[in-house]
Amino acid sequence: MRSKSIELKQEPEKAILIGAELRNTETLLTLDESLDELDRLSNTAGLKVVGRITQKLHQIDPATYIGSGKVAEVLTLVQSSQANVVVFDDELSPRHQRELEKMLGERVKLLDRSALILDIFAQHAHTHEGALQVELAQYEYRLPRLTRQWTHLARQAGGGGARGGAGGVGLRGPGETQLEIDQREIGLKISKLKHEIEQVRRQRQIHRNKRKKAGVPLISLVGYTNAGKSTLLQALTGANTYIADQLFATLDPVTRMSQLPSGRSVLFSDTVGFIQKLPTSLILAFRATLEEINEATILLHVVDMSHPNALEHIETVEDTLAEIEIPNNVRRLLVWNKADLASSSVPPRLLKQQVEYDDEVVISAQSSWGIPTLLEKVETTLLQSAYSVRLLIPYSEGHLTSELFAGATVVHSEHIAEGTLISVHLPLNLYQKYAIYQYLEKEV
Ligand code: GTP
Repeated sequence: MRSKSIELKQEPEKAILIGAELRNTETLLTLDESLDELDRLSNTAGLKVVGRITQKLHQIDPATYIGSGKVAEVLTLVQSSQANVVVFDDELSPRHQRELEKMLGERVKLLDRSALILDIFAQHAHTHEGALQVELAQYEYRLPRLTRQWTHLARQAGGGGARGGAGGVGLRGPGETQLEIDQREIGLKISKLKHEIEQVRRQRQIHRNKRKKAGVPLISLVGYTNAGKSTLLQALTGANTYIADQLFATLDPVTRMSQLPSGRSVLFSDTVGFIQKLPTSLILAFRATLEEINEATILLHVVDMSHPNALEHIETVEDTLAEIEIPNNVRRLLVWNKADLASSSVPPRLLKQQVEYDDEVVISAQSSWGIPTLLEKVETTLLQSAYSVRLLIPYSEGHLTSELFAGATVVHSEHIAEGTLISVHLPLNLYQKYAIYQYLEKEV
């Protein structure tokens, strides 16, 4: 008898989505739109959505978030659809989590939007630093939510991705419950992870300082998740980045050098995408991304213009940038992407303008349509933030002349007896460095 090779395919877990809307409260997206997004997030996390339940509330129930009658409805749907995961669109407090877990029973896994996003983060963190950051965010999220059901630590760290299990249980103190031991262990892990992240961060800071010294401007791509930032980075620099029609495909910042049409070198960096209802604490976990945004000379705010909620996405991104304290006077270009999918190539008017954009441009990153115009606008914006000066660089300092050609826009250069005379547009950091070489013509 010949043995057949059997391919074991794991069935995706079935999930039910729960959305609640508070009466008299303004939200950016409608309940349905927000649940559509949660549906995509669930699919990205590997879940199969089999139903959704919504409720309009006067106030959030302190114990169960939705009303107890609704919880009963959820239970019935869980049973009839054989779902094993329930996902809330809003953040559940530790108490909600405990009470709902009790009511739903052991067989059903309860998640909220943040936990789902953390799970996706864990699956998508590819670098050592990314994995450390996700692990830290997971522990910080879980610490206040530890319940008896959660006490076995092996079920935890990494959420199926980041860095595997959390290891054995430590020394048990006198009279400590398992829950207390777990809390203590998590506390220790959090401080260890913070220490490790700090070390990686210092290393990165050394690279960044070198970059700064060279005076190459940094241009950060920011935007809502799935807007096309990685695709644009690839179109701009040829970088081989991970592109997928998934939410949060890129977690680790990717920075690549490129040249503008004038020959000036610039760095473009891709950053983690933003999404509505994402607690700032989770965004803050991505320090590497934030540091890239913080150091940027220009932000390219990438928008999927074919998305029906494009305007709300812009608002969410600007709100998040404000929350993480990126000053709104950092120069910004609004990049309307996916023009090939949009019903009109004319971008919609912005709802309420929180920040000034220096300019805007319509492109299709996928086909590179509009990229030359975008580069021209980047160049103009850089020039606007630059100082025009004439410098006299002595021949003994030839390396400075090369640095200027790479890091600034040289308009004219000529050799005179004392050195190279250069008319140049300098960004602020280089202007400070080169101030001593300014050439002030003698009065006749
Ligand atoms: P996150 O990593 O989730 O933040 O996404 P991202 O903003 O980096 O988006 P990404 O570049 O991964 O693109 C998301 C999806 O949109 C992919 O399927 C891309 O192929 C697609 N896409 C990007 N730009 C365009 C475009 O100009 N036209 C079309 N039709 N699709 C595009």
